[in-house]
Amino acid sequence: MKCLLVSDLHYALKQFDWTIAVAEEFDVVVVAGDHLDISGHVEGRAQIVVILNYLRRLNARVRLIVSSGNHDLDARNETGEKVARWMSKVRNLGVATDGDALDIDGTLFTICPWWDGPSSREQVAAQLARDARRDKKRWIWVYHAPPDHSATSWYSGRWEGDADLSGWIAEFVPDFVLSGHIHESPFQKQGSWVDRIGSTWVFNAGRQIGPTPTHVILNTERQEALWFSLAGAEVVRLAEPFRRPVDELQALPDWLRPLADRGTDPSRG
Ligand SMILES: [Fe+2]
Repeated sequence: MKCLLVSDLHYALKQFDWTIAVAEEFDVVVVAGDHLDISGHVEGRAQIVVILNYLRRLNARVRLIVSSGNHDLDARNETGEKVARWMSKVRNLGVATDGDALDIDGTLFTICPWWDGPSSREQVAAQLARDARRDKKRWIWVYHAPPDHSATSWYSGRWEGDADLSGWIAEFVPDFVLSGHIHESPFQKQGSWVDRIGSTWVFNAGRQIGPTPTHVILNTERQEALWFSLAGAEVVRLAEPFRRPVDELQALPDWLRPLADRGTDPSRG
């Protein structure tokens, strides 16, 4: 399975355009939250209309998975906690989203919502416990925030990750966690786009300016994960022991065609 992870596009419409342009190269595309830009000039409800249209077009090209992030909260639940209620409209497009589980050939994706308080947090805990009981060959979580005490949540001298997620990873031991949220972690000296916690691989795609989003490409058959950014490209081989520093990507693997921009081909800079 070839899976593309992007996150934190924050209403950067050119980055959505890029994601649509490359989508057909992948079996699955994951957009892991923060679709909106709450500090932007375009009103939130208008942003949602535009983003839904982009997600509809993406979903026409590829199996699409979309989670909410902390910039996507447009309503409150019965206990007053903020929630991304418009994810129900994402589901109506036929997209797997918050609260869903999606089985693709034995790989189970559990898609978690952003949680803003104890009631929504308990829903996530119940969701993970529910999916832990399901048969699966491989378990992948889509979860906007990276775990705490991980290079994937390092920001400017401290960790900014989700401590509850760290506990759930220890308890349920997923194979992969696909996240975003801490935009800068992949670019910081003590941060990274990748970490290994026990046997769990954690990715944080990060965020950058320009028309191409930072992105992670996971190939589960070839046991490789690649990260592309304006700062360079790196690779981890999942069957080998994890070590730092992570290897720079020297050339595209034979299973990956150059994508429609310079940012995915390190030889073109
Ligand atoms: Fe974000």
